[in-house]
Amino acid sequence: MIILDGKATAKKIRAKVAEQVSGLLAEGMRAPGLAVILVGDDPASQVYVANKERACKEAGFISETFRLAASTSQAELEALILKLNARSDIDGILLQLPLPRGLDSDYLLALISPEKDVDGFHPVNMGRLALGLPGLRPCTPAGVIELLKEYDLKTVGKHAVVVGRSNIVGKPLAMLLAGPGDFGNATVTVCHSKTPDLSAVTRQADFIFLAIGRPRLLGPEMVRPGTVIIDVGINRTEQGLCGDADFEALCKIASAMTPAPGGVGPMTIAMLLSNTFQAYQTRN
Ligand SMILES: NC(=O)c1ccc[n+]([C@@H]2O[C@H](COP(=O)([O-])OP(=O)(O)OC[C@H]3O[C@@H](n4cnc5c(N)ncnc54)[C@H](OP(=O)(O)O)[C@@H]3O)[C@@H](O)[C@H]2O)c1
Repeated sequence: MIILDGKATAKKIRAKVAEQVSGLLAEGMRAPGLAVILVGDDPASQVYVANKERACKEAGFISETFRLAASTSQAELEALILKLNARSDIDGILLQLPLPRGLDSDYLLALISPEKDVDGFHPVNMGRLALGLPGLRPCTPAGVIELLKEYDLKTVGKHAVVVGRSNIVGKPLAMLLAGPGDFGNATVTVCHSKTPDLSAVTRQADFIFLAIGRPRLLGPEMVRPGTVIIDVGINRTEQGLCGDADFEALCKIASAMTPAPGGVGPMTIAMLLSNTFQAYQTRN
């Protein structure tokens, strides 16, 4: 079984971005700039934002984090986003989710200028993805596709089962897999909490993509030998972090599999850098 090493793959992508940035700086160009907005004190979000800040610094980006109190009003956030939209030194704007109750994240995400929407959640970028047009792609699904590329796991003509249909992972991932290219062109089935017999579907899969948020939901009885398993899930349990798949049991059955943590998570941050760099290039 091949372990799909997201950490090593992400490191390569980050090094490539850093190299491109140092080339730009050597030519006297400005560094790409990312603004991160963090509202409230959700502990997981604080860790994610700290990791993003560190990754930006390592890549030679300028990153500016706005840490705002949970009591910040919708109007204040709207004003901040509009200000960042207008700043020429900021290429990417990231609104860390979830927001405290009372704030309208859909409205705020749509206020971010689509060309600075490095999370790829803006309706324009989601629409461009659905239409097969170029645009900024959501980081986690894009990271999954990059990981498939790194290990040359082509999906053409394969049955790809995506479990989970969230706007940030499952839905855009299903669109990418059904899209063109060697790491698209799959026959895609999307499963969710109303799928009556999940095992019956996953047992027919060549590739299983898990974005559920249920610790070790996918067990060995649900998978046929040789399946590729990509586990996006990150679950906090009493024993520590784990994915949506029972890694120990499944690594005897799968042909390739991501560990969780250490699989898709690092790829998400690498794609954030790559998207910010793409936004920078589009704007220059
Ligand atoms: N690695 C990363 O960088 C990264 C990034 C984002 C998220 N994640 C992780 O990925 C997981 C999913 O995140 P998300 O934001 O997509 O979660 P989400 O918004 O809660 O969506 C979960 C999806 O799973 C489906 N689901 C729930 N229970 C199910 C079951 N028993 N059988 C089949 N489907 C089921 C839900 O179905 P319904 O639609 O019917 O409710 C929903 O579509 C979480 O563990 C999250 O922490 C990781």
